[in-house]
Amino acid sequence: MMNHAVIEKNVGLLAVLTLVAVSLGGLVEIVPLMFQAQTTEPLNDKVKPYTALQLEGRDIYIRESCNACHSQMIRPFRSETERYGPYSEAGEFVYDHPFLWGSKRTGPDLARVGGRYSDEWHRRHLINPRSVVPESNMPGFPWLAENTLDGSTTAAKMKALRTLGVPYTDEDIAGAAEAVKGKTEMEALIAYLQSLGLAKSRGE
Ligand code: HEC
Repeated sequence: MMNHAVIEKNVGLLAVLTLVAVSLGGLVEIVPLMFQAQTTEPLNDKVKPYTALQLEGRDIYIRESCNACHSQMIRPFRSETERYGPYSEAGEFVYDHPFLWGSKRTGPDLARVGGRYSDEWHRRHLINPRSVVPESNMPGFPWLAENTLDGSTTAAKMKALRTLGVPYTDEDIAGAAEAVKGKTEMEALIAYLQSLGLAKSRGE
């Protein structure tokens, strides 16, 4: 019979048993999330896989570390929903690999920035934020307007995402390079920004 005193006096045993207890707690919390429809199925039919151009834009967003200053996750608090729109739900992010929820907000949350500004506003803002928001301390990204995409890796990225469950068709993948070739990085990034958060609208 093992009693409590034995465990407390044996550091090795205590460590192993603590690990077992903590792991069980973790599994009970984490594993169900992997199977719940609420977290694994798209919220509604407005949640779509990124197009080839939006996907390239998303990679530029990551490359330029936009997510170091911008979150994409509206919390269910009045102060947030009044400013940014309806709170985020898990089913809106099922095609995001990796998630870009973030936690640092030097700038505003971008989870529902899609459709809020025109493409032209974004273009001017990204080249020089102070040309449209005089008090802004966001850096400019003027090179995005000059760099063009050649599409050589787009299909491979979509194939990789398909193995993670994003439902790209063979046609989507076959047409990927053509869809992005010659477009600027700026066009791709704006296409991505304009796609964000359309599954729930402000009126709902
Ligand atoms: C150093 C921090 C920082 C980085 C990096 C940064 N931003 Fe910003 N961003 C801000 C701040 C601060 C604002 C608010 C002022 C403004 O609108 O310019 C802002 C505003 C914005 C807005 C307007 C949001 C709204 O609802 O009004 C968009 C869109 C945006 N940023 C996109 C981007 C993108 C795309 C990138 C990467 C290419 C990026 N930002 C990188 C700090 C940053």
